[in-house]
Amino acid sequence: MYKSIQLLDKTFRLYIEAAEIDRAVSRLAREINRDMEGARPLFLVVLNGAFMFASDLLKEVTVEGTTVIFTRLASYAGTASTGEIKELIGLTGEVAGRNVVIVEDIVDTGRSIAHLLEMLKARGARQVKVAALFYKPDALEREVTIDYAGIALKNDFVVGRGLDYDDLGRNLPDLYTLAP
Ligand code: IMP
Ligand code: MG
Repeated sequence: MYKSIQLLDKTFRLYIEAAEIDRAVSRLAREINRDMEGARPLFLVVLNGAFMFASDLLKEVTVEGTTVIFTRLASYAGTASTGEIKELIGLTGEVAGRNVVIVEDIVDTGRSIAHLLEMLKARGARQVKVAALFYKPDALEREVTIDYAGIALKNDFVVGRGLDYDDLGRNLPDLYTLAP
């Protein structure tokens, strides 16, 4: 574990250690296992950032009939949200009639989740829940309910655990924040 790291022009310092994140992931898996029994849940993983969370979470999901599909959205350039959501890969499976759980790395402004909720309802999902490893309460612009909420963060840019700065830092197991 590094105390601080350099990515391109920016220095990041250790914010949340992997062990604490692992505990949050396990708690979310337990909540999902409790709620989704019998629901044959369909997990929609939002690439790229959610790949690591999804991998860790789904290993601990034990509900029968679990299936996993993917989509890829992009809204960030550098360290700021552009406010525009681009769909780079559409849904890789059918959601009609399914109990969907969106798997997101982080809910920041909430625009991506709001966009997905609307799209999934339009495509006939029976129920849509949201699982997010991290969320920034002070950045939220939309009213979105996070049904399975991991760790609340202060409103600063972070990298690690799937989250990137211009594609760097995604593979770090710990979470880092921009040094002041
Ligand atoms: P939202 O639509 O503003 O909620 O942002 C959602 C997406 O922006 C997330 O799924 C991330 O991929 C990205 N994002 C938000 N905050 C950060 C951050 O602090 N670091 C890296 N990516 C972020
Ligand atoms: Mg994301």
